Amino acid sequence: MKECEWISIAAMDINRVIGSENKLPWNIPKDMIWFNTATKGHILVIGRKTFESMKKIYSENEYYILTRNKNYVSDNVNVKVIHQIEEIPDTGSGGKKVWICGGSEIYKATIAKCKYIYITQIKRSFEGNRYFPEFESNFYPEQVFYEDEEISIKKYIRVTRGI
Ligand SMILES: NC(=O)c1ccc[n+]([C@@H]2O[C@H](COP(=O)([O-])OP(=O)(O)OC[C@H]3O[C@@H](n4cnc5c(N)ncnc54)[C@H](OP(=O)(O)O)[C@@H]3O)[C@@H](O)[C@H]2O)c1
Repeated sequence: MKECEWISIAAMDINRVIGSENKLPWNIPKDMIWFNTATKGHILVIGRKTFESMKKIYSENEYYILTRNKNYVSDNVNVKVIHQIEEIPDTGSGGKKVWICGGSEIYKATIAKCKYIYITQIKRSFEGNRYFPEFESNFYPEQVFYEDEEISIKKYIRVTRGI
């Protein structure tokens, strides 16, 4: 199987909640700054529902929006509408990375092919109806970028199996 360089990036609470009523359940500006900084200038893969909840589109980024609706269009020049996971590029080019940015359906559909996961762990619980999938048995924490009493930000790498 051809190896992907996809990076999943998400914030979740202690019960793996990531969303509520098509919104983020929290307002944590330092995490939004982290997300925008990490993904700036790259390819961002996003589900149609999350895309429609976003307040801002950055002209530096290339957005790949997943929908099964063949009639879905966006007039934003930075947005490419795609209809299946196979249309996501395996790797970026020209220094661009491929960031999987949610939501829940998209994380679940791509996690088996991600090489890295960046998780902001929010150290409390929120009401919510969308979750980040289990990944810990296939990934190990490699680096802690940030930690305080409210959140931690960690990079995980896929465990490579083989002889
Ligand atoms: N905490 C975080 O880090 C974070 C990050 C991102 C999002 N979120 C939250 O996650 C929630 C949204 O997640 P969600 O699971 O409801 O929606 P979503 O993953 O954002 O979007 C789901 C939509 O994507 C399309 N889709 C899904 N799988 C597909 C496939 N295999 N091929 C083609 N299209 C596909 C479908 O669009 P159509 O219906 O148009 O066909 C589907 O309805 C929101 O609450 C959002 O705030 C949280």
